[in-house]
Amino acid sequence: MELILGTTKAAELETGAFVVICFKDEKPGPELAGGIVKELDESGEFTGKPLETALIHHPEGMKATRLLLIGGGEKAKFTTADMRKTGGVIVRTLKPKGIGDIAIRLKGITLDAAMLEALVEGVILGDFEPDQHKTADRPSEKTIKSFRISVPEESVVLVDALRRGRAIGEAQNFARTLVNEPANLLTPLKLAAEAKAMAAEFGLGCELLDEARMRQLGFGALLGVAMGSAEPPVMIVLNYTPAAPHASGNHLAIIGKGVTFDTGGVSIKPSEGMEKMKYDMGGAAAVIGAMRAIAQLKPAIPVTMYAPCVENMVGHKAQRPGDIVKSYQGKTIEVLNTDAEGRLILADTLTYAARQGCTHLVNAATLTGAIAVALGHLYSGVFSNNDELQQRVLAASKAVGERMWPFPMDDDYKEYIKSAFADMGNIGGRWGGSITAAKFLEEFVEGKPWVHLDIAGVAWLDESKPFLAKGPTGAPVRTFVHLATHWVN
Ligand code: BES
Ligand code: ZN
Ligand code: ZN
Repeated sequence: MELILGTTKAAELETGAFVVICFKDEKPGPELAGGIVKELDESGEFTGKPLETALIHHPEGMKATRLLLIGGGEKAKFTTADMRKTGGVIVRTLKPKGIGDIAIRLKGITLDAAMLEALVEGVILGDFEPDQHKTADRPSEKTIKSFRISVPEESVVLVDALRRGRAIGEAQNFARTLVNEPANLLTPLKLAAEAKAMAAEFGLGCELLDEARMRQLGFGALLGVAMGSAEPPVMIVLNYTPAAPHASGNHLAIIGKGVTFDTGGVSIKPSEGMEKMKYDMGGAAAVIGAMRAIAQLKPAIPVTMYAPCVENMVGHKAQRPGDIVKSYQGKTIEVLNTDAEGRLILADTLTYAARQGCTHLVNAATLTGAIAVALGHLYSGVFSNNDELQQRVLAASKAVGERMWPFPMDDDYKEYIKSAFADMGNIGGRWGGSITAAKFLEEFVEGKPWVHLDIAGVAWLDESKPFLAKGPTGAPVRTFVHLATHWVN
């Protein structure tokens, strides 16, 4: 899709559909489309409530073939998050109708860089369909060729916002494509190959740690999980180095859980819904996606990405409940439940990132079902050992409209993960499951400032929204990108 910024006036835009955002408390002029918009309003058919739409053919006084009205709600409450959704709704309303070129004029709303960026992201996100494996009736067969955004005045700031929005939206869709790949096609090595190809295309450093190397390093916790699968594990390391060294000496690590399929292992999961466990590499996909945007947006701080990739399977070589493994950090772990595998692979990865010289660690993982019990599918859980870094992450999440909520991390919770036979167990009891998982991870960060994002509730959308297709959401790509690109000292 071509995204074009221009200054052409509404009436002059020759396009398949011209879009106007209508607020409840600020109606468009009575003359718009020869008075039809006013009529729709008076009849109650279109009142401007959020994301409501109406399509008018051959609007009077305009060169556009159609006029799409989209509700914005109350004008003063219209946020960048609403703008992102609006972009998605526009695309998802017009694309199925085969309308290949769209134009919107943004006038009247405070059009700052963040608003334009959000619109562009929304348009790109709305354009994504998880239909890469359909051979017929693919929604993606219809394509939007161009999306024109007309503004009162062009500026460097807006041009840059468009570039950012595009890089971030495409990065998120890249992550969504990876997550949507089934586990027979996206093995750990295939995921690594995808990351490597992306790194080559965008000029990032790439190193793959294979099984032998990880054995040499002593990644016992990670390798224990990989034992049950015929597919070898791999650790993907991508690196972005800014042109000039960062004055602070800080080095950000972003880390994502890459379980390409989670059967649960010997502590096997119920079969109902198990097909969704291909999204257990959503954390890895999010950090790989984030690196794609980071490579283009070039933040001032160095960023290294780590994605431990394994498949958690059952089989005659699989690890058993009660097995004791030795982590890279040195602590021993009793594997009380083979389905709590994410924390095992992350344990070795967090220690590795810390020992490689990263000063701040942020990880994303589809770690616990319990997080969705606590927060539903709207918020990610945030867990941290460092208030300052947690605040940075929360601020980033807020700025980009990815909702996140902090959890307590009292040391008393460590009691829950005790083991009689090793330094710790890999599960707590019935209660506070997301917190005990986070307390487990904390044991491996070597005292470095660290934030863990439990994204199990938000990485997958069970039902389509008017602005987003069902399936992988690509969360939290935007938070990672914002965190890196807005990092000060
Ligand atoms: N991948 C799952 C968590 C998950 C559950 C993600 C549902 C997405 C949707 C994770 O590896 C897991 O199985 N966690 C267990 C932990 C338990 C054994 C302590 C869980 O949440 O049940
Ligand atoms: Zn599991
Ligand atoms: Zn898992």
